[in-house]
Amino acid sequence: MMKQSASYNISSLIEKYRQVFKGNPRIFSSPGRINIIGEHTDYNNGFVLPAAIDKAAYVAIDKKDDDQIRLYSVAFDDHYACTTDTVQRRHSWTDYVLGVVDQLKKSGYPVQGFDLALDGDIIIGAGLSSSAAVECSVLYALNTIFQFGLSPMEIVKMAQKAEHEFAGVKCGIMDQFASVFGKEGHVLKLDCRSLEYEYIPLQLQGYQIVLLNSNVEHSLAGTEYNTRRQQCEQGVAWVAEAEEGVQSMRDITLRQLEDYVKPKDALVYRRCRYVIEENERLLQACRDLQKGHLEGLGKMMYGSHEGLSKEYEVSCKELDWLVDFVKKEPSVLGARMMGGGFGGCTINLVKEEAVASLIEAVSYLYQQNNHLKLDAYVVQPADGTREIRNQAIRNDYE
Ligand code: GLA
Repeated sequence: MMKQSASYNISSLIEKYRQVFKGNPRIFSSPGRINIIGEHTDYNNGFVLPAAIDKAAYVAIDKKDDDQIRLYSVAFDDHYACTTDTVQRRHSWTDYVLGVVDQLKKSGYPVQGFDLALDGDIIIGAGLSSSAAVECSVLYALNTIFQFGLSPMEIVKMAQKAEHEFAGVKCGIMDQFASVFGKEGHVLKLDCRSLEYEYIPLQLQGYQIVLLNSNVEHSLAGTEYNTRRQQCEQGVAWVAEAEEGVQSMRDITLRQLEDYVKPKDALVYRRCRYVIEENERLLQACRDLQKGHLEGLGKMMYGSHEGLSKEYEVSCKELDWLVDFVKKEPSVLGARMMGGGFGGCTINLVKEEAVASLIEAVSYLYQQNNHLKLDAYVVQPADGTREIRNQAIRNDYE
């Protein structure tokens, strides 16, 4: 079933906030992300090519004079309360909110109490980084209402650390970075070693970005993700024992992998080779995109999927099925699984006039073959984290 991008209803969030807490909140939002190519490269000091999308987490928030933190999730219809001194990890949605409070406190920022209602139109668990969206929206909101003066890059890094320590996933920097720095109509080419970045216009010449959600929950993602990270670190350590100046996968050549890693461990070797090749594919994909050579970009996307599936082994049979299916369609230039893996969405570059018929065909056959419902979303690159101060809200207050 195709989901059209409808704009999020902020008035209803304000209404919920008032029912639960009373008062006039400020509204902040931070988007989810797609990634055109460059998967599992961020924590290897490589490149990524994400964009923020027009689906986001929204928070309604107001500060309090005491130390009481009161939270409400609209999606889960769930309340939670604690104080600034009793913030703890609970393995629940509150971890993404309280994880950033914990980081602020650890860095010495004087967080006071606040009331916060959380909602959004970003799909949870689909690999669109709903967790980073929540972390960044909450941190940006707290930074604004308490005037901590954090820069956007500090917000990115602190939100990433919250994910490490409260959500328990040793993620790279891509998701939080894309959520904060996203720009309408553009993708971001980020060098995860230097943190230099460049906006590249996403000119799709009659093609669209279509996400196909396998509806496979990526429950393995956390543990397997951390294992991949360790395997990469192991490979780097073996090369670094033999070669000077090697600090990350970015400093390693395929030849060095052959010499120092392959003889020691074939699996670690394959993981590392994937990362080095994925960086190469990304750089080629950027050149293709900048030249308007979309066929080339599409090929790199298919190559990325092949590597993720066979060498890095973070795909699953449903994601492979989706990519294999669209590969036969002339209207699709490229496709691959997106994000950490083991479920979630594929990202597809589809000719505009074929989008509806492709979705219809793939949805039916996916269900027949995989006994799961397929959801499809057409997404656009959008702006990053922000406070929403539009006329609609002002009217609402009057
Ligand atoms: C998750 C992580 C990111 C990145 C991707 C894989 O989304 O949060 O940092 O590593 O997986 O590219």
